[in-house]
Amino acid sequence: MNVLLLGSGGREHTMAWKIVKSSKLNKLYIAPGNAGTAKLGQNVDISLTNFEEIKKFVINNSINLLVVGPEAPLVDGIRDYFIADKLLSDVKLIGPSKIGALLEGSKSFAKEFMIKHNIPTANYGSFTKESLNEAINFLNKISPPYVLKADGLAAGKGVLIIDNIEQAKQSLIEMFDGKFGSAGNTVVIEEFLDGIELSVFILTDGSSYKILPEAKDYKRIGEGDTGLNTGGMGAVSPIPFADEPFMKKVEDRIIKPTIAGIIKDKIDYNGFIFFGLMNIEGNPFVIEYNVRMGDPESQVVIPRIKNDFLELLISVADKNLNTKTIELDERTVTTIVLVSKGYPENYEKGKVISNISEKNNTIIFHAGTKIDNDSILTNGGRVMAVSAFGKNIESALNKSYETAKNIKFEGKFFRKDIGFDL
Ligand code: AMP
Ligand code: GLY
Repeated sequence: MNVLLLGSGGREHTMAWKIVKSSKLNKLYIAPGNAGTAKLGQNVDISLTNFEEIKKFVINNSINLLVVGPEAPLVDGIRDYFIADKLLSDVKLIGPSKIGALLEGSKSFAKEFMIKHNIPTANYGSFTKESLNEAINFLNKISPPYVLKADGLAAGKGVLIIDNIEQAKQSLIEMFDGKFGSAGNTVVIEEFLDGIELSVFILTDGSSYKILPEAKDYKRIGEGDTGLNTGGMGAVSPIPFADEPFMKKVEDRIIKPTIAGIIKDKIDYNGFIFFGLMNIEGNPFVIEYNVRMGDPESQVVIPRIKNDFLELLISVADKNLNTKTIELDERTVTTIVLVSKGYPENYEKGKVISNISEKNNTIIFHAGTKIDNDSILTNGGRVMAVSAFGKNIESALNKSYETAKNIKFEGKFFRKDIGFDL
């Protein structure tokens, strides 16, 4: 099997690391990839928005399976594009259709879906500039803090949580005036959910599903969950409070009705669903759907899956996932993300990275890195993630931190308190 994996983050390095362990693999290509994926397969310089180029590459290199890592190509309709083209009809593809991807690409679509299919989520209203008065009435009716969400994709930055009503009204107007570009043409206003967050993942072929290990990520830049939101500074799996009774509620109240809704609404969906959940006194509520794996959650979830990952993906594409059983590594995996100085705001690239050595059975997953002659250079805000297995959270973290401290590049920063709340 020849595989083309789209993406360039830690998530894709982790998937590549797992895919190359499969005896079913002939050749792995990653577009565009990073310095880590270059060691596992061949990086190819193709833009993820250029479906024509992707098509040419797939045909010329006899690709059998296309795995889409990030959400943007899915929201842009890469699945629909492949299905519509006779020359691509034999290519298996992991990722939902354009409509399915709206579960992530449009917050109002996702909320409507949840309400329609009785899936527990925060009460909400959806508004445009034309319905500003209704939006303000809605704000006046709910209690603080106020949650304002740009409807469209905003690179994780489109959610504002505001305590003061006047400030919330002001921010609402700014969103309609283009603070998040066209993503904010529609704004979802939600009631605040007060609880503990976690992420649950499934793999689905559109009718059956398998629950993958759950995880918790740490989104804020600063210790104690303070400061600006990032793509994620670290993660842990499993989560002690996601015990059997809680996970049964997640499955019965959230996963099953989501799959039933996808079937009922005739949504062409396969691949991953990432449920961003809030645990409120033992009851799960959906904060958001993502139509892909998480990053850095992949770096703790995928290492815990003992199955042949490529075989699992093939059974997703072939719609026989029901014949598979997920085998789990019961150990804990933690990951620590090393970021460039200044991230998530402005940061410099091109710093030489040294001491990239995997001590104590740790695994270094690259994100923003690139190869330059014989050196590996920083090439993004999140540079790499150090994952480690342990018999508990503490022992895994000790190993992750030992390797994380050892890696060197100018301006390296990482949070020292991942898992502090568990
Ligand atoms: P989202 O992009 O929808 O996941 O929102 C980003 C972050 O904002 C989430 O990870 C939560 O920490 C927070 N958040 C979003 N919606 C709510 C809500 N209704 N109540 C509390 N926190 C929320
Ligand atoms: N770590 C959060 C995400 O992947 O969306």
